[in-house]
Amino acid sequence: MGYILVLYYSRFGATAEMARLIGRGVEEVPRMEARLRTVPAVSAVCEATEDSIPPAGPPYADTEDLRQCAGLALGSPTRFGNMAAPLKYFLDGTSPLWLSGALVGKPAAVFTSTSSLHGGQEATLLSMMLPLLHHGMLVLGLPYTETDLLRTAAGGTPYGPSHLAGTESDRPLSDEEKRLCHALGKRLAATAAALGR
Ligand SMILES: Cc1cc2nc3c(=O)[nH]c(=O)nc-3n(C[C@H](O)[C@H](O)[C@H](O)COP(=O)(O)O)c2cc1C
Repeated sequence: MGYILVLYYSRFGATAEMARLIGRGVEEVPRMEARLRTVPAVSAVCEATEDSIPPAGPPYADTEDLRQCAGLALGSPTRFGNMAAPLKYFLDGTSPLWLSGALVGKPAAVFTSTSSLHGGQEATLLSMMLPLLHHGMLVLGLPYTETDLLRTAAGGTPYGPSHLAGTESDRPLSDEEKRLCHALGKRLAATAAALGR
């Protein structure tokens, strides 16, 4: 049994909901399971440390979760057109995995949530792919055979699933956004299985 690591940061819950839907898609593939993990917030106060266990939701990831995974779905809210600092901070601690080539050849994909429609979903998704390419991962998007890509009036891109959460972060995922999350999880897990991961 292999697992797809669904690794994300979420402050208001939108990216977390996308992670759960991607996880359900993963679990439709035989002999693949989803392992949901998050990362702690970072603080400007250097002495501040988080408890090692979050107050709610999945546990915090460690680099072993990444080393052992069959594939990776990486999710972040858009922050000024880029991934959120807590996720970047976690990735910046993965040099030992890069040095040993531990992630080379593993499939990976990215997802994001924004408050505004043109607030940088594609920019965030593309920039989130960069560290994954440095790690030698095989980056997947979504094909247009997922026809929700043609119909969506909210999120959903060929670079990965996205969600338009609105300025109050209270818009639920649309049916198209949900299906695209699910499709990505399934595609990632099926690819990992086909690669013999
Ligand atoms: C510091 C900061 C920067 C943000 N930058 C953007 C942005 O560039 N474009 C955008 O549409 N939304 C931006 N947002 C809004 C978040 O992307 C949006 O609320 C997202 O849905 C939150 O996801 P979450 O519920 O998983 O935390 C920003 C929010 C914060 C706190």
